[in-house]
This record gives sequence, C-alpha cells and structure tokens, in this order.
Amino acid sequence: MKYDFDQKIDRRNTYCAKLSSEQEGLDNHLYDNDYIYMQIADMDFACSEGIRSELKKVLDHNIYGYTIATHSYGSDVYDMIAQWLNAHHGLSIKGSNIFYAEGTLGAVTSALKAFTKPGEGVIINRPVYGPFTMCINNVGCHVVNSQLLKDDKGRYSINFEELEQLAADPNNTAYILCSPHNPVGRVWSEEELLKLHEICQRNHVLLISDEVHCDFVWGDQKFLPTIKVTGGKGVVMCSAFAKTFNLAGLKPGFSVVTDPDLLPKVAQSSEFIFPSPFTIASIKGACLYSEDWLQQMKEYVRGNIEAATAFFKQRMPKVNFYEPEGTYLLWLDFNKYGFSDEELHQRIYANAKVILEDGTLFDPDHGHGFQRLCLPVNRSRMLEGLERIAVELEK
Ligand SMILES: Cc1ncc(COP(=O)(O)O)c(C=O)c1O
Repeated sequence: MKYDFDQKIDRRNTYCAKLSSEQEGLDNHLYDNDYIYMQIADMDFACSEGIRSELKKVLDHNIYGYTIATHSYGSDVYDMIAQWLNAHHGLSIKGSNIFYAEGTLGAVTSALKAFTKPGEGVIINRPVYGPFTMCINNVGCHVVNSQLLKDDKGRYSINFEELEQLAADPNNTAYILCSPHNPVGRVWSEEELLKLHEICQRNHVLLISDEVHCDFVWGDQKFLPTIKVTGGKGVVMCSAFAKTFNLAGLKPGFSVVTDPDLLPKVAQSSEFIFPSPFTIASIKGACLYSEDWLQQMKEYVRGNIEAATAFFKQRMPKVNFYEPEGTYLLWLDFNKYGFSDEELHQRIYANAKVILEDGTLFDPDHGHGFQRLCLPVNRSRMLEGLERIAVELEK
C-alpha cells in the first residue's frame, strides 16, 4: 500500500497538544489555521492501516476494561515487542525482559523511583530534552548537568572527563543518556557507549538509556542499543512506539532490562500499571502490520530533512546547525543574527506565525539564540514555514 504523507489532515478540535497555545505564551492562536506547528515531536501523518484495523477491533468490541500486556500468557504483546526490537535493532531479548510503562517518560520515572533516593543527583547532558528535569525533580532528586561539548562544525560530543568526575561523586546515582540525542541529533558510537557504560559501572551509577528516537537514523549511521553494546549490566533501556509509529497519545512505552540484579525492582515498579486496550492494539498493529508504512514514512521524513537543510544553506546561511545523524529534529543556532531571545521568539512565533521550541527549554544556560525544529510534517507546510521565518529574520 502506498501512503500519502502530503495529505493535510485537520487536527483542530481533536485536543491536539501541538495546537494548544498555552506553552508558547501566545494568545489566541489556538486552532488558528494560519500557524505552522513544528514544535512537539509528533507527526502530522495518519497512522498505518495495520494500526487502524487493530484499533477498530477494540472499538467494535466495545468493552474497555482493565487490560494487561501480561508476562503470564503464552504469546503476548511483550513477545511481539521483543521480536520487533530483535529484528530491527539486533537485540536478543525475550518478552520477559520488557515491562509496560506509560510512555518513555513513564519508564524513565519508574527507573528513577526504583533506583534513586530523594536528595540524590541524576546526571544529564544538556542541551537535552527538557522534561528529563521534571522527571528528576518529581522523584525528589536534582539535575547534575554534564554539558555536551560542541566542535567548530556544530557537532556535539560527551565531555567524558567531566562525566567521570560527576559519576565519582557518590551522591550522583543515575545518568539519563538520550540515544539518539534530542535535540542535537547525535547517534552515539560503540566506543562512546562503551566508555560511558564503563564510567557508570565503575562508579555504581545506574545508566538509564532513553532510546525513543532509535528508528530515525540517517545515512551511514547505525543505531546501537546500549544494552546490546554493553551487555546490559546496570542499564535500563526506556523507549516507546510513540515516535516510530506516531502513537504518542496512546502511551505505548516500555522499559527493557536484561541485568538480573535490576529485574525484580523494575518488575515490581511496573505492577498495576495497566495499558489501555487501545495501546495494546496499537502495539500489535505496529509490530505485526506496519513495516511498509514505517519504510515509506522514513523516506518522506528523510526528504524533509534534506529539503530543510538545503533551505537553510541557500536561503539562511547565517543559521548554524549540524545535519542530524539521528532523530527528525534540527537544532538551529540563530545567534549570528544578533537578536535577543525575546526578539527571535517574537519574529518567528508572533510575526512569522511558526511555532518551534525555544532553545532555553533544552538548555537554560546555553540555549540562548537556539530553536528546535521538528520535521515530520507536510513538506509544503514545512517549506512555507521556513520561508516565513526567512522573510522575518532577513528583514
Ligand atoms: C528524548 C525523549 N524522551 C521521551 C520523550 C517522550 O516520550 P513519551 O511520549 O513516550 O513519554 C520524548 C518526546 O519528544 C523525547 O524526545
């Protein structure tokens, strides 16, 4: 089946978070047709037919009671997820290594709750996905930032020397790795993963590996699951089918654990977290019947990244960025324009009517002058949005 990712689907009046004005601090653009939304990381694409038909079965059954993705039945949803991950990412896990979570963030929060104590420090690498800070604070811990290093070309890397020092502090007990990294688009190499795992192991720091962007990896890059590269000792992988199959609203999240020392606590912390029957159905549809959609969608998104990077190079060469190795995000540095954060925001959001995400949400100290652009949108809308930004900034 051929999918049409250029189709424009009206998301107004569907409680679509992307169209809500609250987080942008702008009035009256709720459901406004004029705005172009490229902030929240979901896609403006309809899901696969396989997912739709599994969801319809649940709808027609018309009973929506408690549902389990149980470990105790024979062929269950966990086995499907395991088989999918093994086939796509070369893992060799079983269903019994997987635990349902309410989204990737639910899995991260569970791991923090299970393995840290209030007052402890949790290491992250800013600029990074902002809500990690909320997860860490919500369990009574505090953020310990190990700032990513940036080279002349805008490519980021981990400051291993600093990571080593921070991990050596016995009060810092966990590290959340973002792999691939949102927003800077790095796909971590085997060498990098082994190095940071060794640092964590030597210092008894739990390694929480958020791999929700794992299916968006470009060119010669290869995504390597942390558990696969390191053997999984002291690692909790947190992920979801949220990004890959555009199912974020259904919270199809999970953790994967192979370390026998971690398994009991992770199992315990996922008890009584019931997925919705729609979530179960969507995971089935994704794992069993959505390969064609996935391949076509990735091709389209790759085309968007190419079109956006070409646009910036030709039309706005003052914008600095490194082409993403992974993720469908661009981390754009507008500092050469010399605008304050307020002016940049005003020009892009209010004047051009394009909604992105301010850099300081990812990095309160060093995110000034940056914006994150999220690209799984209709290409013509995307290009229109970029042109509007160019007109406003080049004035
Ligand atoms: C790195 C990262 N982790 C977690 C999430 C949230 O995922 P979920 O909706 O599955 O909780 C996002 C969403 O953008 C993300 O980029």
